[in-house]
Amino acid sequence: MRLVKLIANLGYGSRKEIQTAIRHGWVTDRAGNRLKADSNVPHEDVLFDDEPLDPAPGMVLVMNKPLGYTCSIKDQGRLVYDLLPDRFRMRKPALSTIGRLDKETSGLLLFTDDGTFLHKVISPKADVPKVYDVTLDRPMKGDEAALFASGDMMLESEDKPLKPAELDVIDATHARLTLHEGRYHQVRRMFAATGNHVTDLSRSRIGGLSLDGLEEGKWRLLDEADKARIFEG
Ligand code: URA
Repeated sequence: MRLVKLIANLGYGSRKEIQTAIRHGWVTDRAGNRLKADSNVPHEDVLFDDEPLDPAPGMVLVMNKPLGYTCSIKDQGRLVYDLLPDRFRMRKPALSTIGRLDKETSGLLLFTDDGTFLHKVISPKADVPKVYDVTLDRPMKGDEAALFASGDMMLESEDKPLKPAELDVIDATHARLTLHEGRYHQVRRMFAATGNHVTDLSRSRIGGLSLDGLEEGKWRLLDEADKARIFEG
């Protein structure tokens, strides 16, 4: 791909702006040689303003989403994209979240610009489990685990039963719930159906990938081993 298009697609500016940057000599190789619009240099050897370029398409990243941020590219209020470099919003192909977390849910959120990877993670065939830490308003009654595991729990206004889910009870008002699908507000609706109310919800794991000390509001790129871990749940 031509250098101008490659850099513009990473969100560094319009093609016109990138042409100007090239003319000014802001685009170089690692040895400091100025590159031209038609230079053919591997992505990893290109510097923009003396800094290596952002990752090429095919990137996957993990964020520890704080409460109060919406998983949307355009919405009112704080957005998860506000926690990423501004450029990432302008990338082509676009960077999207892999599934969503509610505004009032925190924890592990994946992003990618790779549609094939995204579909692989959310595909029912891959059956990637998602683990949620739940705090409840009231003590559990004791029959929740059996109901969630039954495979015939119905949520209001739905016509297909939920897949069996595993509930590990920690104490009367704390539990860890593992889901094998992702329906709208699923965790909150499951507990609401038992007469309870979720007061705090955080996702701690997707497949075999956990946050591993990633601070709230921070993100990091996944390498090939991290990506593979997602499917080793
Ligand atoms: N279930 C919910 O209720 N909310 C989330 O954000 C994720 C799962």
